[in-house]
Amino acid sequence: MSQYTGRMLPRAADARPPHPRLPLIVTTSDRVDTDLSTRARLAAEDAGVPFVARHHKLPLKKLLAETAEALVVFESEAVSLVDAEGVLRFSPGLGHLRIRQLDAGVPEDMLLRIAGLREGERVLDCTLGLGADAQVAARLVGPSGAVTALEKSPALYLLVRHGLEGLPRHPAACAIRVVHADASEHLRTLPTGAFDVVLFDPMFERQRKSSAAFEALRRHADYSPLTRETVTEAQRVARRAVVLKGSRYSQDFKKLGIQPEPARPNATVLWAKLPGTAAS
Ligand SMILES: C[S@@+](CC[C@H](N)C(=O)[O-])C[C@H]1O[C@@H](n2cnc3c(N)ncnc32)[C@H](O)[C@@H]1O
Repeated sequence: MSQYTGRMLPRAADARPPHPRLPLIVTTSDRVDTDLSTRARLAAEDAGVPFVARHHKLPLKKLLAETAEALVVFESEAVSLVDAEGVLRFSPGLGHLRIRQLDAGVPEDMLLRIAGLREGERVLDCTLGLGADAQVAARLVGPSGAVTALEKSPALYLLVRHGLEGLPRHPAACAIRVVHADASEHLRTLPTGAFDVVLFDPMFERQRKSSAAFEALRRHADYSPLTRETVTEAQRVARRAVVLKGSRYSQDFKKLGIQPEPARPNATVLWAKLPGTAAS
């Protein structure tokens, strides 16, 4: 007689795959007020992402297991991106530290050194990510300048756009306008010389392991390769310069035929600067 060893085979009906989970939804923390719910629903509509109203008996873990692979969670004072690997709560992060250095009069920031951003300039950041460079650019161009930042990933767009909105405004910085768009498509809609400087910091092919925040960024980022056509389009849109940032450990600058600026031998990040329309 054979012995029953434990696991039952599924019946035919149980063997059907569960509902496919959505890639991303927007929801709220469990202490929901009407204003927060409205804010989250409008944000979801704007990004074209489903909104799931939350009540206190609906745990985030259950939502993740049954409904979506990732959640953008609006809380009254914060925004978080939650997935199976963990929680990324928006914070001004590295941008904040760099701005403190600038406030202290230390002119070492590479965005300042390479782009030479001046007060009153208009900057288009084509790759918002976690928003560090956009925040530094906003501080460098000051209240009379303008920064627009594009992000293609819906999860990062929602997290960083609404995270930045919740930050107190630095008195010496301009606001950052965040747009959910693909940079290549968006650049084609812009007039020649619409910005002084256009910035790219794409997901280059070879990246080194880094902070938990950057690992979360990697899981949700868009990996469209930067093409020579997009760089040329950016040079048309930029009056003064196009600035690119990349990893020393990738071949991407080489593939684009772009020569980076000289850097220290131990520098892991390389920068490049190309002329805009004012140079021609
Ligand atoms: C390396 S991160 C940028 C980090 C950013 N400079 C910062 O300071 O936090 C690159 C970001 O660009 C976004 N991205 C990549 N290709 C894009 C495209 N074609 N249009 C808009 N965003 C894009 C990715 O989703 C990712 O969030």
